[in-house]
Amino acid sequence: MTTTVSPHRHAAPRVQSSGALQTFDIVAFDAPVGAEVLGLDLNEPLSADDFARIHRAHLDYHVLVFREQRITPEQHVAFSRRFGPLQIHVLRQFQLPGHPEVLIVSNIRENGQPIGLGDAGHFWHSDLSYKEKPSLGSLLHAQELPSEGGDTLFANMHLAWDTLPEHLRKAVEGRTAEHTYLAKYAELQKRSPWRPNLSAEQVAEVKPVVHPVVRTHPETGRKALFVSEHFTTHIVGLPEDESRDLLGALFVHSVRDEHIYRHQWAEHDLVFWDNRSLMHLAAGTPDHLRRKLYRTTIEGDAPF
Ligand code: SIN
Repeated sequence: MTTTVSPHRHAAPRVQSSGALQTFDIVAFDAPVGAEVLGLDLNEPLSADDFARIHRAHLDYHVLVFREQRITPEQHVAFSRRFGPLQIHVLRQFQLPGHPEVLIVSNIRENGQPIGLGDAGHFWHSDLSYKEKPSLGSLLHAQELPSEGGDTLFANMHLAWDTLPEHLRKAVEGRTAEHTYLAKYAELQKRSPWRPNLSAEQVAEVKPVVHPVVRTHPETGRKALFVSEHFTTHIVGLPEDESRDLLGALFVHSVRDEHIYRHQWAEHDLVFWDNRSLMHLAAGTPDHLRRKLYRTTIEGDAPF
């Protein structure tokens, strides 16, 4: 069983400060991560104090769901940029025209051609963990939602680390692991129309990288497991079978029900998650239904 938004919500303490321009609430979900931001309008100016409150909530809850955001791609990009420089996805094919920072996540085909990346999030992952500087966070904005399915699941990787059994903690202590964009590419390509052949330039852009298996969040100092089913190929220095078994045990533990929040999308949701604290998964959309979202990713630090 996974956790969904519950009617029993706890209101986060309201901090009113003199520089606040907007009146809004941040309400925690009854779940291991996540809160919704109610009453904020990203069409309106956001003061430094309001921004600081959102930033703090993002660090505390790891996923923020901004409800009712009727914003343009320009506004989506501008809000994302307040958290850091944006990253451009290697699949240039699925950029929103005129907005290279926006990746279209969609199962829709027009004239037989996919308009976006339809199987983004098919495996658990942290966005762009295959880069030297993986993503700090991602902002996904609903454009067109299916009448059923299409949920996104988030796993709290701090909890995964905090509750990791002692023998697994010992096994990963001081270890690093390789991440590569290409880990599951061929497998995905076999079964979906959304994985074009990559040019030599694109392959060169996603060379394998090595990151610590347990990372320290650069802003909160909390530790989190940092390996994923999608992008982590092996643990450096271990024989192949040992590495496979250890990664398998870490993946199973990471996505235990008690670590997960399941987001059921509502029209105009903008969901902002912390890739340093979470992994996520797209639960899938029935083929006959349409789903389209726009995603930005903010560059983070090299994990340590
Ligand atoms: C992603 O992995 O960024 C996409 C998640 C989703 O489509 O729900």
